[in-house]
Amino acid sequence: MSSFTKYLNDSLAEIHEQNLYRTLREIDSPQDIVLKNNGQSVISFASNDYLGLANHPTVREAAKRAIDEFGGGSGASRLVTGSLTPHRLLENHLAKFKNTEAALCFSSGYQTALGALTSVLSANDTVFSDRLNHACLIDGIRLSKAQVRIFDHNNAKHLRKLLQEERTQRAATQSQRGQLLIVTESVFSMDGDLAPLSEIATIKDDFDAWLMVDEAHATGLYGKHRSGLAEQANVSDRIDIHMGTLGKALGAAGGYICGSMALRALLINRARSFIFSTAPCPAAAAAANAALTIVKSPEGEARCQRLWQRVAQLRQGLGLPSKPTSPIIPYIIGDEAMSLDVSQRLHKQGLLVPAIRFPSVAKSQARLRITLSANHTEEQITQLLTAIRTIVRPSSTQKTQ
Ligand SMILES: Cc1ncc(COP(=O)(O)O)c(C=O)c1O
Repeated sequence: MSSFTKYLNDSLAEIHEQNLYRTLREIDSPQDIVLKNNGQSVISFASNDYLGLANHPTVREAAKRAIDEFGGGSGASRLVTGSLTPHRLLENHLAKFKNTEAALCFSSGYQTALGALTSVLSANDTVFSDRLNHACLIDGIRLSKAQVRIFDHNNAKHLRKLLQEERTQRAATQSQRGQLLIVTESVFSMDGDLAPLSEIATIKDDFDAWLMVDEAHATGLYGKHRSGLAEQANVSDRIDIHMGTLGKALGAAGGYICGSMALRALLINRARSFIFSTAPCPAAAAAANAALTIVKSPEGEARCQRLWQRVAQLRQGLGLPSKPTSPIIPYIIGDEAMSLDVSQRLHKQGLLVPAIRFPSVAKSQARLRITLSANHTEEQITQLLTAIRTIVRPSSTQKTQ
């Protein structure tokens, strides 16, 4: 056996031993509520397609038209082959939607975070990052080489304390260190809870820090215009870097940054994940643009309302307080093997509820991550509740948000 094969086998054995081994499920249908998985029909409670737009006829049609007009691929990075009409339309639309001067799209949310953070930060700066921030934010901060101070999850008091410490330290050493950047998600991907954006914005002002908010799980769902939690919290104009994704409630693929024209220009010139990556395919940009039009329309509002009704039904059924509200409802089991077992037993009953394990969450914090869509029916939620009551052993620890 070659040393490389031995390394692979040993690594896989170690992952197995920790009950952290992952495989890919085979799906032979569109990503909608009922999926075809190895010939079995399963009701999905796994997707981030909260408004049910990924398989919406208008979104499909927009993608098809973009293929007819612009082909399958974008050819190269936009700095090499230029910005196609679907890219430009989408970015103008996003900037209007977020009420910012400009927007820039990336091929994925992950690339967006890496590109933005590495463009605005350098080793001289200090980042204040929520403990539960998504991996792409963590990786972007690491890649930037800036100093990091982690504040306790959604704990504005702790954030303030860390900023105060930093200020005192700098004053004591008369150090000329660089900028301060606060980074948080608005709706947390694995816990579904909401960041205290208003308090964070006040702290940002008090310390003259910059603020970046990742609205991946909030875009399309919160605020009068459904542009995100920042709109709902009335802090949009205090955010320097608005980040979001196009593959969740917008049902397409990609990520975006909204902000000033100067920020957009800097990203085009510095963000390596933009510069050195082929532009999003025309179909994805056109699909996201069509989804945005739906989100803003009365249909978008109706879909959102339906989603919140389903969320309320599930929360009530699980005995959870009605707030905080997001379409992500974690059912924390703790043990990795037990979470997998529960997920597999739900699957046997035709319900797809993924077990989320390390490194997506901390060790011994394994959970079922239930996500809801406007396309779920009341009956499907009832079916899930019945299955959870019968399958999840009363002895298993449950802590949900
Ligand atoms: C909070 C958050 N930000 C960013 C991303 C990355 O987005 P994408 O899937 O488009 O790469 C995700 C994806 O799961 C996420 O949950």
